[in-house]
Amino acid sequence: MEKKKSNFSGGLGFVMAAAGSAVGVGNLWRFPYLVAKDGGGLFLIIYLALVVTFGFTLLASDIAIGRKTKQSSIKAYGTMKKGWGFLGILTFLVPVIIMTYYAVIGGWITRYAVVYFTGESKAAAQDDFFTGFITSPVMPVVFGLLFMAVTAVIVYCGVESGIERVSKALMPFLLLLIVAIAIFSLTLEHKAEDGTVRTGIQGLMVYLKPDVSGLTVSGFMSVLLDAMSQLFFSLSVSMGIMITYGSYVKPEVDLNRSINFIEIFDTLVAFLAGMMIIPAVYVFSGVEGMGAGPGLMFVSLPKVFARMGVAGTFVGAAFFIMAIFATLTSCISVLETIVANCMEIFHAGRKKVTLVLTVIYLAASAIIALGYSLFYVEVPLPNGSVGQLLDIMDYISNSFMMPFIAMLSTILIGWVVGPKWIIDEMERNGEHFGRKKVYIVMIKFIAPIMMFVLFLQSTGLLTKLFG
Ligand code: PFF
Repeated sequence: MEKKKSNFSGGLGFVMAAAGSAVGVGNLWRFPYLVAKDGGGLFLIIYLALVVTFGFTLLASDIAIGRKTKQSSIKAYGTMKKGWGFLGILTFLVPVIIMTYYAVIGGWITRYAVVYFTGESKAAAQDDFFTGFITSPVMPVVFGLLFMAVTAVIVYCGVESGIERVSKALMPFLLLLIVAIAIFSLTLEHKAEDGTVRTGIQGLMVYLKPDVSGLTVSGFMSVLLDAMSQLFFSLSVSMGIMITYGSYVKPEVDLNRSINFIEIFDTLVAFLAGMMIIPAVYVFSGVEGMGAGPGLMFVSLPKVFARMGVAGTFVGAAFFIMAIFATLTSCISVLETIVANCMEIFHAGRKKVTLVLTVIYLAASAIIALGYSLFYVEVPLPNGSVGQLLDIMDYISNSFMMPFIAMLSTILIGWVVGPKWIIDEMERNGEHFGRKKVYIVMIKFIAPIMMFVLFLQSTGLLTKLFG
């Protein structure tokens, strides 16, 4: 039985851990893809405007709920308001689902890091390398389980000596690596077969210049919805993670400063990821080279690295090490949230709960890792795509549950307990809650509507209803 509730040692430990959770594959493979797809600078401007209004509102809410109730989601919502415990259970289910596949993705990234360290970078650039790897029934399982085991060891060590220590060590290093690769990306130059020379700086322009050609109202709406769903996935909100991390923050820490830092860190890394990936892909493959998700990271980028020659092996190694750091600190936050909730439900100690959950998730990760071989399925999803096990889990948690949970929690805060409940926590030590007015307008009016529209869109209902 754990007598004393765990804490982060101070503000810095908290922001590093929270930034560690926020910065993940979403920043690396989803943000750059969306920028390239949604009009470059246009997406950037919309995203930035949303970070400081909408993202800030959700992040402040989650963290304040955690610190004020000193509980994880499953108990926190019921403590906030009697009768709302169901929202806690729903929120708890999101990391429970995400955990089944997050370590599998971490395993893929680890495999690629090994590829670059063992000098197989040419092989990784072959067209069928990625498919060959994930459809094998052995390698993805081995690497997935390894990633899961490392995550479990860190969570087992506890909040301060495990999570905080690892985050403080890895996050600055991650930032350094990504800055270095981004700068390198800008120096690239390549002469295509038709004689045209493309440079990294031209690629940077493609990234930054707002492209509004042919933009329609519905086009703008879809950019807005993309930016919104990216934002709350990226900030790890509406999945109980920031509630749990918030519950470990000491009362004297200034939440306003911490939240600013987390927002800036997460957005900066996303921006740098774009600055690193878009010019590199542009120089070697033109804009058509930009794929989404796993395709970008595991197929397009290895090709780009191969074209860089010897330097590519080093850049590839640096990139995948950086990606391991990003994924590991996110994976830790998912497992920690499940552990913290279970400790509260079962009144059990950290070590016992972590051990039991590790066994369960080693099994779950193995099953998901086999989703492209032994357990291959093709399931049509409501948003029109066809998914394997991993995509199904991702769809249920991110597209279906998260907007729904965010909508209910904004209604709970905005209309049931009232924004003052959160504001009081933000001003606990007499701090100045700078964006108080923005917060009130967002939480009461704009966020619930935006979340409702996003929910309709990601479930495919929006197109069904409005064509
Ligand atoms: N915020 C992380 C990212 O942007 O990649 C993603 C993430 C972390 C999602 C943790 C879910 C999660 F539980």
